Formats: sequence, structure tokens, C-alpha cells
Amino acid sequence: MKTTKLLMLIMTIAIGLFILIPKLSWADDGASLYKAKCAACHGADATGKPAAHIPSLVSDDAKKSSDDELVKDVSDKPKHPGMVKNLPPDQIKMIVTYVRSLQK
Ligand code: HEC
Repeated sequence: MKTTKLLMLIMTIAIGLFILIPKLSWADDGASLYKAKCAACHGADATGKPAAHIPSLVSDDAKKSSDDELVKDVSDKPKHPGMVKNLPPDQIKMIVTYVRSLQK
């Protein structure tokens, strides 16, 4: 009887994880976050839009900025919309990691 309950519990957790993990990895993916929150302005390749005064995130200047500076820019730039400024810090860090991968 006890073993059955334990098995049920393990099954429930396994099914729960199976349902949750794909959603988590989607939300926690720096590339998807960048595409959803930044690409419209800074471009899919992060080169910005000079005509619209949107800076490149893959310029030499951006490469020289520290991770902390980039994180700060995301939440501080007055031209950034609320949905960008109010991103949770862990998501901003993931986006910065993704931007770094574009800089290479
Ligand atoms: C509504 C358009 C818009 C969106 C969306 C947007 N940005 Fe920006 N971003 C700008 C503009 C315009 C500037 C320049 C603003 C300024 O210098 O005051 C800027 C500046 C920056 C800078 C500073 C770059 C520099 O050289 O000064 C960084 C870093 C940055 N954005 C990253 C991001 C990231 C990461 C996201 C997504 C989370 C994002 N931005 C979303 C428009 C946008």
C-alpha cells in the first residue's frame, strides 16, 4: 500500500516536471527573451538602427562595456519602454549573455 502511494507521488512529480520544463526553458532562454523584448528596436542581429538613433549592441563600444553596465543600460535608458525596464534582473542577465554571444 505504501509503495503504491510513493509510486503515485513519483509519477505525479515526473508528469509535473514533464509539463513544466519546456515552459521554463522557453521563458528562461536569453535568445527568446531578446527576440521578444529587444529585437524590434535593436534588430535580430543587434546591430541597431542608426537612422532611428537606436545604438548597435555589437559595436566595439558595446563590447567594451562590462556586463554590469549593459544590465544597467537595460533598466536605466529613458527611451526603453516599461516592459524592458521592468524585466526581472535574472532575465536581463540572460539577455546580456545572449547579446555577448552575438558580439563574437
Ligand atoms: C523601443 C525601442 C527599444 C527597445 C524595445 C529596446 N531598446 Fe535598447 N535602446 C533603445 C534606444 C533608442 C537606445 C538609446 C537610448 C539612449 O542612449 O538614451 C537604447 C540603448 C540601449 C543600450 C545602451 C547602448 C549604448 O551604446 O548606449 C543597451 C545596452 C540596450 N539599449 C539594450 C537593450 C536590450 C538588451 C533590450 C531588450 C531587453 C532593449 N535595449 C530594448 C531602444 C530600445
